[in-house]
Amino acid sequence: MEERTNRQILLVEKPTDRLSPEHFRLTQVPAPAPREGEVLVRVRYISLDAANRAWMQGTTYRSAVEAGSVMAGGALAEVVESRADGLAPGDLVFADTGWQDYAALPARQLIRLPQVTPLTHLLSVYGIAGLTAYFGLLHVGRPTAGETVVVSAAAGSVGSLVGQIGKVKGCRVVGIAGGRDKCDWLTGELGFDAAVDYKADNLFKALKAAAPKGIDVYFDNVGGDILEACLAQMNLRGRIACCGAISQYDGAPGGHGPRGVPGLIVVKRLVMQGFIVTDYFNERDAALGDLQSWVAAGKLKVQEDVIDGLENTPRALVGLLAGENRGKRMIRVG
Ligand SMILES: NC(=O)c1ccc[n+]([C@@H]2O[C@H](COP(=O)([O-])OP(=O)(O)OC[C@H]3O[C@@H](n4cnc5c(N)ncnc54)[C@H](OP(=O)(O)O)[C@@H]3O)[C@@H](O)[C@H]2O)c1
Repeated sequence: MEERTNRQILLVEKPTDRLSPEHFRLTQVPAPAPREGEVLVRVRYISLDAANRAWMQGTTYRSAVEAGSVMAGGALAEVVESRADGLAPGDLVFADTGWQDYAALPARQLIRLPQVTPLTHLLSVYGIAGLTAYFGLLHVGRPTAGETVVVSAAAGSVGSLVGQIGKVKGCRVVGIAGGRDKCDWLTGELGFDAAVDYKADNLFKALKAAAPKGIDVYFDNVGGDILEACLAQMNLRGRIACCGAISQYDGAPGGHGPRGVPGLIVVKRLVMQGFIVTDYFNERDAALGDLQSWVAAGKLKVQEDVIDGLENTPRALVGLLAGENRGKRMIRVG
């Protein structure tokens, strides 16, 4: 039988400060053989996510990634050998394969995916990013037409879709992103009404100018100072959809959290709700139907940032945390 070589990227040491490519090492082992009930998958595209870094800090909605193990990560993969009912070679799946060429996984841990063109959309707009934007904005943020929606990490994979979905729903949309180029892209290409450069502008003042009627929905991807600035400008009965806290993922543990909690929340009757995209997976088909129709109608522009080569995955994650990416960053493995 054909001997398959499996390249793997190990997390050799957990970072105590900023993540760097030196925390990883490339190694090679023979590909595993699937057991009864398992399939062997070949990884095609690895999804790079800000949360990859958070998993190194400790248990989140999944167990922590430990030093010495294959770096965890979601991927679009193709079944190459099956010892499970209902899955055959050639089938496409989404799975936590980790950063490697091959993984043998129980069939029940795989999400079967349709063939779409381009395939990469299965990791962006029709993947976790698109569904997180959709459920977080529409089910947690619940904006109505005419309201003001603000989103942070707005040029990232989730944020760029949140803003565009906000426009579909008739809202005024303000993005917060790092750098003038990203801000110009949000307003010029993606149809955001305004954008604030949190690295250069006076955040509080620029936000006030961009959202003169206050904020009804804040989609929070970053936490920290940006959450604090938005909290102070929330309207009565505003909603804050807590999606993530990128500002706290990389580097040494930060100082204290945002001021204004709970005082502003009480006075303004705010709802601040965390969510995990899988909470809404029973409504996935309806969400995908909406996302597909908006893409087809040209209402959602899908920005993807595809980098070639498994060996480049560590550098690509470090770059993502530093703000290199626009839209969904992923690695083409093979
Ligand atoms: N709740 C869920 O189920 C769920 C699911 C998926 C993702 N998430 C969360 O959603 C958020 C967005 O993820 P994503 O995959 O869209 O991100 P992404 O595309 O990976 O974008 C990351 C962006 O964050 C920005 N950033 C980095 N450090 C920052 C800081 N200190 N302050 C402000 N912005 C910073 C950078 O852009 P700039 O150039 O603008 O700084 C960077 O490009 C993350 O918090 C992630 O954990 C949650």
